[in-house]
Amino acid sequence: MTLLVCVTGRDNRKLMTALRASLPGIAIREWPDAGDLAEIEFVLAWNAPESLWQQLPNLKVVQSFGAGVDGIALSALPADVQVCRIVDPALADDMAEYVLGHVLAHKLRLGLYYRQQQQQLWRPKRASGGNRVGILGLGQLGQVVATKLQRNGFEVLGWSRSEKTIPGIVQFWGRTQLSEFASHCDYLICLLPLTAQTRGILNKSLFEAMPSNGVLINVARGAHLHEADLIDALDTEQIAAATLDVFASEPLATDHAFWHHPKITMTPHVAALTSLKTAVAQIAANMQAMQRGQPLSHCIDLDLGY
Ligand code: NAP
Ligand code: GLV
Repeated sequence: MTLLVCVTGRDNRKLMTALRASLPGIAIREWPDAGDLAEIEFVLAWNAPESLWQQLPNLKVVQSFGAGVDGIALSALPADVQVCRIVDPALADDMAEYVLGHVLAHKLRLGLYYRQQQQQLWRPKRASGGNRVGILGLGQLGQVVATKLQRNGFEVLGWSRSEKTIPGIVQFWGRTQLSEFASHCDYLICLLPLTAQTRGILNKSLFEAMPSNGVLINVARGAHLHEADLIDALDTEQIAAATLDVFASEPLATDHAFWHHPKITMTPHVAALTSLKTAVAQIAANMQAMQRGQPLSHCIDLDLGY
């Protein structure tokens, strides 16, 4: 039984040390030094190359190193492989804090006052009146974000794939209710998984449905957003502002138009960072469950892609 770590774009030294400490007796290799590919049954993956999957004849489990699984080419996986992800209440709390903080920053016009301070301008204005926050995606993260916003006096609306009833949340579901949902959002938060159905969902028609004071906050994936449509919506005052934590290509290219757009604030994919400790505990538990033939935790539905 061999674990292959194929986590790209980060320094994995602490991760490898923690995995070796938690899984004594398990052979752990780090891609691209994968050794005999036939020995690999479990892969820990983050932005793994698509070509990897068909090279592993005995692959049984792919574990994402985060909440999202979009860095794993699900359609390229051999049949009967299970895909799991990290689910961590602390990650959801971090996300809720991030969203609340950025909604309040817009409401209190903090960006405007930071800019005015640079110019020694004294121009007091009442805080923005909009109080309705819509959340695209009411899953592990979206529901915790919703509760945090409700506790802080916001009216919360939610949009999901399936019909659901969550106390205190005005609920919408399915494509046919998307525009109606967006029309009620002073703040629109994207917390959807990236799938074929949700790619590009933050686009012209959604922005046209939003009120002109609307603020977009994308904390899900960059590929949810049609970038040119956002710039157009901001420049034509279709919507008021955007906060982006995630980008189609990360790190964002230095010549990208988002960097200097006056209505866009950005953070470098930090809204909710995977905790090494929690992740390693969940990876080790799933690895041991696989060895014992027991059910794994936090597996996705491969047909739905999340
Ligand atoms: P989750 O538990 O899988 O929840 C997904 C939600 O999206 C569910 O409510 C689901 O609806 C809804 N949904 C999925 N497809 C849909 C569709 N076609 N139409 C409408 N609704 C749809 O996911 P999560 O754990 O909350 O995470 C969400 C995403 O956040 C991750 O996939 C990742 O991309 C992103 N993320 C970002 C950061 C960051 O630092 N920026 C950190 C962690 C995660 P149903 O309830 O009906 O199934
Ligand atoms: C981060 O973006 C994650 O999916 O955990």
